[in-house]
Amino acid sequence: MPAISATAPGKVILFGEHAVVYGRPAIAIPVTQVKAKAIVTANPRGAQGEVRLLATDIGLDAMLEDLEPAQPLAAAILETASALKVKRLPACTVKITSTIPVAAGMGSGAAVSVAVIRAVSAFLGHPLPDEKVSALAFEVEKIYHGTPSGIDNTVVTYARPVYFVKGQPVETLKVRRPFTLVIGDTGISSPTGAAVGEVCKAWQAGKTLYEAYFDSIGAMTQSARQAIESGGVELLGPLMDANHGVLRKMGVSSTELDTLVVAARRAGAWGAKLSGGGRGGNMIALVPTARAEGVAKALQAAGAVRTIVTGIK
Ligand code: MEV
Repeated sequence: MPAISATAPGKVILFGEHAVVYGRPAIAIPVTQVKAKAIVTANPRGAQGEVRLLATDIGLDAMLEDLEPAQPLAAAILETASALKVKRLPACTVKITSTIPVAAGMGSGAAVSVAVIRAVSAFLGHPLPDEKVSALAFEVEKIYHGTPSGIDNTVVTYARPVYFVKGQPVETLKVRRPFTLVIGDTGISSPTGAAVGEVCKAWQAGKTLYEAYFDSIGAMTQSARQAIESGGVELLGPLMDANHGVLRKMGVSSTELDTLVVAARRAGAWGAKLSGGGRGGNMIALVPTARAEGVAKALQAAGAVRTIVTGIK
């Protein structure tokens, strides 16, 4: 049997992170320059149920039965097998690789789950439809970060710009006029679950204030959707700046993120904000396409450990 492989891209949140956990809308886009990949190879000599997991990036080489069922890679395989009512998998090796930075707000956990679920379901002879793949990856996301909204698994599964409201059917966005983003990585690891937990504590201590923050972010996201669908790309810059301002007040920015955001604006970006859980990880800048390389250089000079230029269409 030939090896079966599947991939899923990274992602950035354009508008609405954190507020989306509390029922407000958010917009996310796939980032295809980075991706997670899973390859399943049959082992005809092995016994039924012998599944080896190989993820050299994270130093993992283990048999499925020796891992905790809550280990995210194990969970992705077990969720898939259980959805397909398969009790014991045929002997195989599941190899996982990823170029998506970890704990950086780029959806690495969700993308790995989606790639594994797709590859394992195809290996079992029943490739699952996107809706089911996303739903299973969401179950695994809950292990990664407690109370996820579901936006990460959705955008990396559909690999399209999405307008997302928790618990509602996914809406893919029609981008009327393409636009360009530069992504800048602070290099500071910041697991999403921790940032979501901190916001939850702050919300519990000051519900009126935080609900008002979430409402204003939700309104910005709706305006951004209109701008994207009507081709009014220039309106997105000020909205990104405003969204970043509220995220700062919520305490999820950091000196490093703010430095990169300011550097991007000074280098000619139309707007910039942190993206994802915050406190580290990545920021994004909306740029005139001709300025993309200049903004990327300015971000590197201001401390970004990596930059990615990506087009949205
Ligand atoms: C993570 O990409 C975005 C957050 O809003 C968390 C979530 O929606 O699950 C911070």
